Amino acid sequence: MRQYLIAGNWKMNTDPVEAAELAAEIAALLSARPPDDNVSVALCPPFTSLVSAGAKLKESKALLGAQNCHHEAAGAFTGEIAAPMLAALGCTYVILGHSERRRYCGESDSDIRQKIAAAMAAGLTPIYCVGETLEERQAEQTLTVIERQLRRGLDSIALPDASRLVVAYEPVWAIGSGLAASAEQAQEVHAFIRAELGAMYGEKSESILLLYGGSMKASNAPALLAKPDVNGGLIGGASLDANTFVAIAQACGS
Ligand code: PGA
Repeated sequence: MRQYLIAGNWKMNTDPVEAAELAAEIAALLSARPPDDNVSVALCPPFTSLVSAGAKLKESKALLGAQNCHHEAAGAFTGEIAAPMLAALGCTYVILGHSERRRYCGESDSDIRQKIAAAMAAGLTPIYCVGETLEERQAEQTLTVIERQLRRGLDSIALPDASRLVVAYEPVWAIGSGLAASAEQAQEVHAFIRAELGAMYGEKSESILLLYGGSMKASNAPALLAKPDVNGGLIGGASLDANTFVAIAQACGS
């Protein structure tokens, strides 16, 4: 059966109290109207809200994820958070390589590769984000950019099984813009990502979950999620509204 993952990227929103309220609201909706069994759900609050949000998910189907980690497991890195710390808090996922971190924090593909290795070593599943800017799309460089991000970000990363990696295609021009990629644009890139992962990892790449991210909402989710290589979404703005977020989870397979 086709598997899906709907992950909420809360970005730099919610203090611990607000996060607990939002997580509780989502957990209640998921238990009142559960999505199908083949749909996983994850919430990725800021570091400071992981504990309070996580506490509300104990009885729920939703899993916890973080938005970044350091590439070392411990040490003199003031202000940083290591992957084993996130695992100890109950995180299953960690978002890595998000375009906002590439842009505002200068993260390179090789920095991200080290983080992916650290996350996997700690037992976390990275949600590795790739995507082109508007200029790159207009210059018809989309697939070249995606190929480079995949090859460099996953260079010498062993994959014991497909469930240990999630890739999110997030066109930079679609993030927070209200203008999502069309279902056809998303499918074209997802099929390319699937083929690239196939070249790297062989047959198991067929079960790696490929998420679409960038202005996904309840209205455009059904068309995007109906495409054969779209296995879910990484949802920013729309994940801060419990009803909308859960409606997107319910659109999987519909
Ligand atoms: P958006 O963000 O849904 O608000 O466009 C998606 C993301 O940045 O992960």
